[in-house]
Amino acid sequence: MTESCTKKNHSSDNTTPCSAHETCQDLHQILITSEQIQKTIERLASSIQDTYADYDCVMIPVLLKGAQWFANDLSEALNHDKFQFLPISVSSYQGGMQSTGQVRIDKVEKIDISGRPVLIVDDIYDTGLTLKHVKQWFESMEPAEVKTCVMFEKDCDHAHEVALDFVGLPVPDEFIVGYGLDYQEQYRELCCVGILKPDLIEPEDRIEYAQPVS
Ligand code: IMP
Ligand code: MG
Repeated sequence: MTESCTKKNHSSDNTTPCSAHETCQDLHQILITSEQIQKTIERLASSIQDTYADYDCVMIPVLLKGAQWFANDLSEALNHDKFQFLPISVSSYQGGMQSTGQVRIDKVEKIDISGRPVLIVDDIYDTGLTLKHVKQWFESMEPAEVKTCVMFEKDCDHAHEVALDFVGLPVPDEFIVGYGLDYQEQYRELCCVGILKPDLIEPEDRIEYAQPVS
């Protein structure tokens, strides 16, 4: 049994269970609390504000679905309409625990990024396949520059190296869920991040990600 996943209220020092409290019971271990996440968002927002202080408009593609939770919090912390968030539907995992090895960019609104800075926001840097593909795609549209920002950096060999400009928190080389990250489209709503109980993982997925001994 893990400790439960709680969220600090903005208006007081009280904490309340996060909206996905029930699924929190499915975690074997909480790795990152909601409070750590919120502090990280503040640090990243301040660093992004400093970096783009001289720009009037920054395009921020957000890689759906995973990065949506991170991007919502970041947008609130940046609190300025010069930061234009742009949701982009991209997938390489498609529900399971291993990357399919292919990246699909499904739907992109028509945008003009020529001469503007682009900051790609993603949930996690794992193999790097997604980020590398999307970065090259934006670079081909002649922006002023393309930078990258991820909430989590997995401690693994990244098969596709990408330079990261803004990094939230390191995470171990485990399959993790919460704060946008899913297992079979579940657990994205968790306000903390953790490792699932082994018996909730389908046998064919267990081979790749062995669970730590408790
Ligand atoms: P990539 O392997 O770096 O291309 O990561 C692609 C995507 O896989 C990420 O943006 C996440 O949405 C997903 N992903 C990678 N690692 C995890 C994980 O540990 N849990 C859940 N999703 C993950
Ligand atoms: Mg993703």
